[in-house]
Amino acid sequence: MKTVLITGCSSGFGVEIAKYFLDRDWSVIATMRTPREDVLPASERLRILALDVTDTESIRKAVDAAGPIDALVNNAGIGWLNALEGTPMDVARMLFETNTIGTMALTQAVLPQFRQRRTGVVVNVTSSVTLKPLHLLSVYTASKAAVNAFTESLALELESFGVRTRLVLPGRAPETRFGENARSRMADHGGFPEPYTEVVQGVFAGWEQQDSSETTRAIDVAEAVWRAANDPSSPMRIPAGADAVKVAAAG
Ligand SMILES: NC(=O)c1ccc[n+]([C@@H]2O[C@H](COP(=O)([O-])OP(=O)(O)OC[C@H]3O[C@@H](n4cnc5c(N)ncnc54)[C@H](OP(=O)(O)O)[C@@H]3O)[C@@H](O)[C@H]2O)c1
Repeated sequence: MKTVLITGCSSGFGVEIAKYFLDRDWSVIATMRTPREDVLPASERLRILALDVTDTESIRKAVDAAGPIDALVNNAGIGWLNALEGTPMDVARMLFETNTIGTMALTQAVLPQFRQRRTGVVVNVTSSVTLKPLHLLSVYTASKAAVNAFTESLALELESFGVRTRLVLPGRAPETRFGENARSRMADHGGFPEPYTEVVQGVFAGWEQQDSSETTRAIDVAEAVWRAANDPSSPMRIPAGADAVKVAAAG
């Protein structure tokens, strides 16, 4: 039986990815900053571990407790929507600490076992915003585009050890807590700078006009992660969700 370790399983895509792998007979190590037993269905094949990807000690403990795994899914991430002028550098650092360095650090901690066993796959969840520039997303996009570059370069150095890496690029998913979490982070840091009011209104109006059949569902992401983990012939970049597929095709 294969084992996957997934980050950010307290909500959103992480929950759906964990369920998807459980339903297909994998062992799942669902990690969360604050472990909760009630977000996933009970299963003998499910373990819940504490993991904050910005904390070195937390990474060490979780990887030790997990033992051998076959796939790592770096899904944990935080959002931010604001102009650069409205983005305190502490927030920019927090985004990179979580989305970028967190992914690198956990991958680094897992690699020795993959390399020694000459098997394993690292699936990194980034975003379709990295495929097409959008207003107010410069800092968030930079944190995710760095993961794209990291993952594609890492693939080369791991190839001879039989270890694969893949990227899953979801589109906009209003159903997860992502937007709400980002909004409360924005409110804590003073909101949008006044000169950008028109840009902000344009962004929100654009979302309202977006056809809901052209957004991303958590299940789209789970399917893409499953494919990335199980199909060695899958492409390096796998868009997830109708909107992401459209942006990727427009290329
Ligand atoms: N939703 C979208 O529109 C969208 C689109 C494209 C890409 N994505 C990406 O998809 C991934 C999942 O997002 P989602 O939509 O499922 O959002 P979500 O519902 O907000 O889930 C994000 C998860 O990441 C966790 N997390 C945050 N900081 C962490 C840390 N330092 N260590 C460990 N876990 C941490 C959160 O845990 P807590 O509960 O502890 O905060 C939560 O479990 C993210 O990487 C995001 O950037 C989302």
